[in-house]
Amino acid sequence: LIGDRDLADLEQRVQHALARGDAGDLDVVGYGEITLVLGWPRGAPTVACKRLPPFPDGAALASYRGVLDEYLGELCRRGVDVVPTELRVVAGGDGSSIGYCVQPLLPAATLLPEALRGAQPGPEHPALAAVARTAAGAVDPTVGLDAQVSNWAWDGDRLRYLDVTTPLLRDGHGRPRLDLGLFLAAMPAVLRAPVARFVLPGVVARYTQPRAVLLDLLGNLHKERLDAWVPAALEVVNRLVEPPITRDEVGRYYRADARLWRVMLALRRADRWWQRRVRRRAYPFLLPGRIER
Ligand SMILES: Nc1ncnc2c1ncn2[C@@H]1O[C@H](COP(=O)(O)OP(=O)(O)O)[C@@H](O)[C@H]1O
Ligand SMILES: [Mg+2]
Repeated sequence: LIGDRDLADLEQRVQHALARGDAGDLDVVGYGEITLVLGWPRGAPTVACKRLPPFPDGAALASYRGVLDEYLGELCRRGVDVVPTELRVVAGGDGSSIGYCVQPLLPAATLLPEALRGAQPGPEHPALAAVARTAAGAVDPTVGLDAQVSNWAWDGDRLRYLDVTTPLLRDGHGRPRLDLGLFLAAMPAVLRAPVARFVLPGVVARYTQPRAVLLDLLGNLHKERLDAWVPAALEVVNRLVEPPITRDEVGRYYRADARLWRVMLALRRADRWWQRRVRRRAYPFLLPGRIER
């Protein structure tokens, strides 16, 4: 999809952007909550490059690769059609390794939020049923999935899943398989321990229960400004979950979730300010601008 030289070039541009603190000459395809997704080549991108947090050493990278491969295999076995994903590595500045999950870039109009925006809301829309059925059929205590609309593409009859950078696998004791410490690097240092201990296990657990996964999908419709789809989606989801989810529950869930992410982002911005102005260091992440919720 992209050659080593070109990926190294892309990483160089990211490094410059980080040093300057803005995404100026990068083609940002999406800011997920965690990864930065860049389009390549510039101007007319055909490839999506998802930059992962830096891996401190080869062992960390090998372990991530193992968990990612296993996750891709599990999703495939469970009937989730994942966009082909390649893990690629380039050298970071300081001996660390920078990983990218590389995928073909899907046309913007086929990303599910866009597809839904262009359609008449109703429970008969096949994409909704496909998402609910696929997600509910795939998850169990060891395999999770984030069914929010921003993680799917729909081209009229084929549903594809694209968010695999955080493999949601758990071992037999319910412990996350992924070294979540890597992803916590995106968080202010003082928060890492409490978040690792009290927040993350719950977040990962949430994605392994069909009802919780679908409640999260419903709440996320508000964030995507797809409120008009909530009644239709509720009807579809409630064919699959017990006890049924109510509109009230969706609203309450959304407000709590939005608050959590808003607080996290505010803390990250404060940390960025501290690192740059007080510690005089480059802040190693690009943060999304204002997010409407
Ligand atoms: N292969 C792709 N083609 C087009 N857009 C993509 C692709 N992968 C991701 N995106 C865009 O980037 C966003 C974030 O990517 P995602 O893999 O979901 O990362 P995160 O784990 O940070 O949510 C997606 O919601 C989508 O808008
Ligand atoms: Mg996502």
